[in-house]
Amino acid sequence: MTYIPGLEGVVAARTRLSFVDGQAGELFIGGFPVEVLAPHATFEEAAFLLWHDRLPDAAELRDLHDRFVAARELPGEVVDLLRAAADRNAPVIDALRMAAAALSLDDPDPQHNDPANNLRRAEQLCARFPVVVATYWRMRHGQAPIAPRADLDHAANCLYMLNGTAPDAEAARALETYFVTVIDHGMNASTFTARVITSTQSDLYSAITGAIGALKGPAHGGAPGPALDMVFEIGQLDKAEANIRGRLERGERLMGFGHRVYKVRDPRADVLAAAADRLFQRAGDRSLYDMARGVEAVALRLLEEYKPGRKLQTNVEYYTAMVLHGVGLPTELFTPMFAVGRAGGWSAHCLEQWTDNRLIRPSSDYLGVKDRAWVPIDRR
Ligand code: ACO
Repeated sequence: MTYIPGLEGVVAARTRLSFVDGQAGELFIGGFPVEVLAPHATFEEAAFLLWHDRLPDAAELRDLHDRFVAARELPGEVVDLLRAAADRNAPVIDALRMAAAALSLDDPDPQHNDPANNLRRAEQLCARFPVVVATYWRMRHGQAPIAPRADLDHAANCLYMLNGTAPDAEAARALETYFVTVIDHGMNASTFTARVITSTQSDLYSAITGAIGALKGPAHGGAPGPALDMVFEIGQLDKAEANIRGRLERGERLMGFGHRVYKVRDPRADVLAAAADRLFQRAGDRSLYDMARGVEAVALRLLEEYKPGRKLQTNVEYYTAMVLHGVGLPTELFTPMFAVGRAGGWSAHCLEQWTDNRLIRPSSDYLGVKDRAWVPIDRR
């Protein structure tokens, strides 16, 4: 057996959910190019597509919206848990991870893994994630949580519950586009985590909780905050060269660049750049956006200089930072928002894994010794 560090190039699942071609820079989600799906679909539509392998008709979408609305009320124990986390100032992504695990509390039979119940759980978890994030965010800032609004879709309701005012159509659309852009992406680390947990016949709450833990790290979903921080730190385009050179000289990684699979530009970066462009035309800090584009060009040039041949390109996180900043979200909410979008894909992968399950259980190369002699504790 061959040891493959990071399982690079290992095919660990068969899926109909998304297809990533890292050489061609292509991403298909539920059969649609991301460039087609993301600007048009709502999160509910894209999640339905992944769960059912087809788009919903108008009545089905209305019914799904109604089920999302009904699921938005959190169990009281979860609200108490969020309050306890807020008292300790826990990071938002940690509060979401704790809440995801506790959301099984109002499930009458969380261990019963039949397909209908798992689909209901998938819908409920997805519907509740933005509610958890917004409720927690307000608690942590000493503000009263805001009740959800039944007339608002997923993204608009999320912004409403955060800010207390309904967003304009463009901001809501930009956030929908973001959620759909990141809803699924092949066998990424958090999705793999969810599938591994599911493959043991564990429950959906456990799988999604594990996935959030995997997403949190800076090598995966933790990058967009630091990417924006870098742009802010640079401050003026003529300072970009020295700042980025300094980072690369110190051996630092530039957040928002490089990808395990994409060796050309991540197509999601273009979809989100277009969304950011539209947002910043209308409002927000256009000069910041223009500078970010300039910083990107300098970063790509210097990455080629310092890391020639590694094919380091802009990834989804760089423009995630621009879109989420453009809709008025602070950097600490960037990774939690990634989880809100990716929950659609995680849950669809769990459902898919259950339909054709085999325990995921790879092997390891043993590097230890085999000839130790036992020494009793009083003689060590
Ligand atoms: N900045 C500077 N150098 C980099 C970067 C970067 N962003 N990414 C990779 N490199 C360098 C590495 O130092 C390494 O150099 P070496 O050959 O001299 O040792 C070479 O490129 C190859 O890097 P690997 O670590 O083998 O690449 P890997 O495929 O494991 O990493 C990863 C992919 C983790 C995304 C990496 O590019 C990275 O750390 N990027 C920054 C963080 C980031 O943007 N994460 C979000 C990813 S997208 C997502 O998960 C949604």
